[in-house]
This record gives sequence, C-alpha cells and structure tokens, in this order.
Amino acid sequence: MSIKKYLASIEDLSNQKIVLVGGTSGIGLSFLKFLVKKNAYVILLARNIKKAEAIVDELDYRNIDIIEYDQSSYSSIQKGIDDLLNKYPKVDSIVLNAGVISKTKELMEGHPYSIGVNYYGIRYFVEYICPKLDSKTKIVIQGSLVAGFHLNKKTNIEDNNLKTFKEYNISKMCVEAYFYKLVSKRIYPNVDFVLTEPGITSTNITRNLDSFLKHAGKVFISTFFHNVDKASLTLLEAVSSRASNGSYIVPRGPFTVSGYPKYKKFPKKRIREYLIK
Ligand SMILES: NC(=O)c1ccc[n+]([C@@H]2O[C@H](COP(=O)([O-])OP(=O)(O)OC[C@H]3O[C@@H](n4cnc5c(N)ncnc54)[C@H](OP(=O)(O)O)[C@@H]3O)[C@@H](O)[C@H]2O)c1
Repeated sequence: MSIKKYLASIEDLSNQKIVLVGGTSGIGLSFLKFLVKKNAYVILLARNIKKAEAIVDELDYRNIDIIEYDQSSYSSIQKGIDDLLNKYPKVDSIVLNAGVISKTKELMEGHPYSIGVNYYGIRYFVEYICPKLDSKTKIVIQGSLVAGFHLNKKTNIEDNNLKTFKEYNISKMCVEAYFYKLVSKRIYPNVDFVLTEPGITSTNITRNLDSFLKHAGKVFISTFFHNVDKASLTLLEAVSSRASNGSYIVPRGPFTVSGYPKYKKFPKKRIREYLIK
C-alpha cells in the first residue's frame, strides 16, 4: 500500500459539501489537502481567519469557504453554526477535528480548558446543530488512542488541577464515550456518527508545552511514528461512502499508533457512561 494507492481507493468527492473544524494545522491541514485532491466543496470553520485565508490562497482552490468559529466559546460555536446553516442549509459531512493540549488554568465555560474545548465544545456543537439538520448528515469525531488508557473512576474531571496530559486524555475518553452514546441511543436518527483516531504523529498540538518536552517529543514522534499525511487518512476514510453510522476507524498497525485505516469494533471499556452524564 502507498498513500497514492490508498487515495485511489476513495471515490471522487465533487458532489460532497464537507465542513472541517480544525483544518488549519497538522492532521486537519493534511486532510484538507486530500479533500482538495478529491474535489470536495470544503467549508473551513476556523478561529484564526487570517491563517485560514493564507492557507486557502496557497491552495489556490475555488471550492472552499471560511467561517469564523472558536470551539472554546459556546457563543462562538452557536454563531459559527448559525452562519454555516444560513449559507449552507445542507451539508454532507462535518468533521470535528479541532483539539488542544493546554496547560492553561483558564476555564472554558466553567470546565478545565482542554476538556472544555475537546469534549464540551464538541458536545455543544452536536447538540446545537443536530436538531437543525433536516437532511441526512455524517458527523466525524476525532478521538485518540489515549482514550484507551486506564482511568480511576473516582477522578474528578472538573478538577482544574489535573496534570496537562491527564486532562487531555480525559477529554478524549469523554469524546469517545459520547460517540458511543450517540450511536447506541440513536439520539439523532438523521445523523450518522463516525469516530476516528489518527494514531501518533508530530504536529503543533504540542505548542503549549515546555520547549524541551516539545522539541524532544517532536524528534521522538517523527522518528518512531507515522507522518501527518498518513495520520489524516482515517478522516478521509470516514467521509468516504465506506464509513457509516457507528464506524470506528483507526490506523491498522500494532497498538493503532500508525498505519493505513482499518475498521474496528468499539471497545467495551471505553463506553464509560459515568463520564458523560
Ligand atoms: N498529533 C497526534 O499524534 C494526535 C493523536 C491523537 C489524536 N489527535 C487529535 O487530532 C486532532 C488534530 O490534532 P493535531 O495533532 O493536528 O493538532 P494541531 O496541529 O495543533 O491542529 C489542531 C487544529 O485545531 C484547531 N483548534 C484548536 N483549538 C481550537 C478552537 N478553540 N477553535 C477552533 N479550532 C481550534 C487549530 O486551529 P489553529 O490553527 O488556529 O491553531 C488546528 O487547526 C486533535 O483533536 C487531536 O487531539 C492528534
């Protein structure tokens, strides 16, 4: 298998309107470039409009639009969705890829920041947009293999003194548990939910960490894990017609850290209903 061969196995997407949150860096940016190759119409939801415009200029691609959206604020999520649906009442897929690893002690709508952006932001997005969607839509949620790590059930996820990585891991555990709830309870029958994981790859997600950790992490990850293009293929698989409600897509290599996409059964131990009451 090569990326070229894998891309050839995905259908042309020129009849698809795809909304992408978190397409201005790392995995999302690689995925955006693949969407362009596959001729999709892309609506980028981005917090940094100048950065998004520069990317669009460089891509030199007609079928792309930008809407302002910041997943760290409920009012911005609402406004972003209202602006999106006013302009595009029908979209085919929405990819919720934005995520942070943050050290800040600032709260996001009353929650620890990374848990706020990565989980409560997604949940607010889903609960606000789904009742407004009147045609069949697919929502893709970006998870992480860290959701498979151990968690003590007594951990208080609203504790704002959690260690940086623990808080991030919990945010992804919540997101994956929420995905399972959406699929198993079929809360929004009009909407198909797909969960992806990118494995491990070197991106700017480490930007808020101490510079030693940031640098050492980048070198280690670039040496031992897959590149960002390969890591973005699970997102491409998710928007293809092969993925349907409940699909869970991960890299196929050992421990799902790298490799081409494969479909997997959602692991029981990640259901964790207690996290997402
Ligand atoms: N890298 C990995 O090994 C890895 C492993 C497992 C899961 N993931 C997940 O993959 C996703 C992408 O991560 P990445 O590694 O590609 O990181 P990245 O390079 O830092 O990209 C993150 C993207 O999210 C956007 N974003 C962050 N906060 C936002 C907010 N408040 N509102 C709107 N957009 C926001 C960023 O926008 P700006 O460009 O404006 O910063 C950027 O486009 C994340 O959900 C991450 O948790 C990554």
